[in-house]
Formats: sequence, structure tokens, C-alpha cells
Amino acid sequence: MDRVKICLVGAGRVGRVHGSNLRNSIHEANLVAVVDKNREVAEKLSKELNVSKCFDSHERALDWGEFDAVVITTPTFTHASIAVDAATSGKHIFCEKPIATSLPEADEMIRAAKKAHIKLQIGFMRRFDRGFLKAKKRIEEGIIGKPLLIKSTGRGPGLPPEWAWSTQKGAGMLAEVASHDFDALRWFAESEFKRIYVMAKNYKCPEIKERYPDFYDTAIVVAEFREGKIGTIDMGCPVEYGYDARMEVLGEKGVIFMGDIEDQQARFCTEKSGVVTLAFPSWRDRFKDAYIEEIRHFVDIIKKNIPPSVTGEDGKKALEAVIAANKSIQVSQPVDLPL
Ligand SMILES: NC(=O)c1ccc[n+]([C@@H]2O[C@H](COP(=O)([O-])OP(=O)(O)OC[C@H]3O[C@@H](n4cnc5c(N)ncnc54)[C@H](O)[C@@H]3O)[C@@H](O)[C@H]2O)c1
Repeated sequence: MDRVKICLVGAGRVGRVHGSNLRNSIHEANLVAVVDKNREVAEKLSKELNVSKCFDSHERALDWGEFDAVVITTPTFTHASIAVDAATSGKHIFCEKPIATSLPEADEMIRAAKKAHIKLQIGFMRRFDRGFLKAKKRIEEGIIGKPLLIKSTGRGPGLPPEWAWSTQKGAGMLAEVASHDFDALRWFAESEFKRIYVMAKNYKCPEIKERYPDFYDTAIVVAEFREGKIGTIDMGCPVEYGYDARMEVLGEKGVIFMGDIEDQQARFCTEKSGVVTLAFPSWRDRFKDAYIEEIRHFVDIIKKNIPPSVTGEDGKKALEAVIAANKSIQVSQPVDLPL
């Protein structure tokens, strides 16, 4: 197969990251079209990336059809319909997390991909981060013995777009900010969630709560896995100090830490401050290389016709945990899984 021809659907925050990586870093891929329902946004990005085709709907792009795969970077509530249409047209799919807003939608996407024999990969970039991968390997080698307790911190500096404030459109802030933490917990536990309990608060955004009553900006999740391990997630968004994605796995014989808070490229010293190392300003900077590696993997699995390492089923399991977490917030009780 020649270079894999890709159509980017969604030219917003993360669409710009994947678009630029496809154009500048993945030589086995050819970004041939940009879609955004806001035509001006699509035109702007396609001009910036020197892409000749641009469309204002994925249907129009699929009618044209001269590509092998789509990268879906639209708001979460649109993922399922775009993915099902793409699968029906025989296009491989990379879909950003969270896979969808409901389990029936996720099932429909997985079913459509299977039926069409196309790849479906979900955008959990932590699984492609060098530090996280190294930790996973060391754990598998037995360096800390059997993992017992897994902790994950997921904090973002700025609020996501407004659609993500609504639980209907974005599946809640745990989906938008902490999907990665749920997936990473499950990845390190190598087990499925059995029970989830969450406390969530809105400390910083009372004006949002007036319009979105179930909005929360700070949460702590306690989870139990089927074969006994336990885990926690703490989520905060917005936080003032930067982007923060750290994990820790406590095992029978030791502990392993992952994820830097410090952006080592930016260290300064003044008389007043002493030596200061800045925090990562955003997810784009913290996972710069991992975003490239996950898209490289997507292109690779298409070329080699092998399954993705992060599947639609992984996306569904993380979403199921998020939905259980949102339910736990509503009822102030632990929620058992599977739902
Ligand atoms: N992996 C990550 O680290 C990461 C980071 C940010 C966002 N995300 C996820 O990526 C997705 C997009 O988030 P974002 O922050 O980039 O959103 P965004 O709102 O910044 O951008 C979405 C873009 O999609 C366009 N759009 C909306 N509906 C469309 C449709 N039906 N067809 C075509 N275009 C449409 C909008 O006009 C907008 O330009 C979400 O699911 C989000 O959770 C993942």
C-alpha cells in the first residue's frame, strides 16, 4: 500500500494537533482532506496545512471518498454518527476519546467497524507515551511485584469548549478530562472495573452550574477491579498551574512513578525566584510525542493489516467507567459494573 490517505474530520483544538502531525511527522500518511462543519475553520486549517480538499460535512467528504481513513476530532456527541458512516463507506477510523456519549453508541461503532472489516482505534495517547510505556514494561518484568494500588492524576489548565460542560454532549468532565485516567487505570490493572465511587464538587465555576446543573470541576474517584486491585483518580479542571498527568503503581515489592509535571525545557533563575522549572502549559506540550506515536500506530496498523493496540472495546470500557462514575455522583453511592 502507498501512503495512507487520511481525511481529518473536525478542525478544532485536537484536530489541529493531529492535522499538523499527519502533515509534518508521519511520512507514511497523506492528509488529503479537512472537514469542519464550520467551513471557514476547515478552509483555514486546510490552507495552513496545504491540503487541497476541504468540506463542511463528513457526508460530502465520504461522497468524494478518495481516502482510506478518517481521523475523528469532533465533539464527543458527534463521534458515533460520523464513525458509523465512515465504517459503512469502508474507511478505517481513528476516533478521539471518549469514544461516544453512551454505551449503545459505542456498541454501534464497534459493530459497524467489525461488519466492515475496518480498523477502529481510540485516542488514548498515554498508551504511547515513552514514560508510561517504560513503566508498563518494568511492571510486566516484575520489578515492583504484583500491582496492588494504582493512582492517576488528570488535571487541565483551561476549561474545554462549552459542549463538553454538558453531560449529554460530552459525558461530563470525567469523560472530557479523565477518560485517559480511567483507561490508564484499566491498562495498568489488567482487569475490568468492578465498583466505582466518586465525590465531585464545583469549586471554581458557579456560573457554569447555573446553566449545566450537573457540571463539576473537581472529583475524586475510588475504584475496585474484578480481581482485587484498587485505584484512585483525582481530576481538576481548570487548575491554575498547568497540565498534569501523573500516575503511580504500588506493588507488593515496590512502587513506580510516571509522568512529569515539569517541562524540563523551560527552567529559569532570577534573583527573586531562585531556580524555577515551569509546569507543562497544556496537553499538547505534555504529550507532544505520544500524539505523533498514536497516529503513527494508526497508519501502521492499516498498512500492515493488524489490530490496533487501543481498540473500540477499550474505548467502551473507559466510557462505561465514566458513566458509572457520573451515576455515582448523582446517587452518592458506589456503582457496580458492568452496567
Ligand atoms: N486526546 C486528547 O488529549 C484530547 C484533547 C482534547 C480533546 N479531545 C477530544 O477530541 C474531541 C474534540 O475536542 P476539541 O476540544 O478539539 O473540540 P473543539 O470544539 O475545539 O473542536 C471541534 C471541531 O469540530 C467541529 N464540528 C462540530 N461538529 C461537527 C460535525 N458534525 N462535523 C464536522 N465538524 C464538526 C467544530 O466546528 C470544531 O471546529 C472531543 O471528543 C474531545 O474529548 C481529546
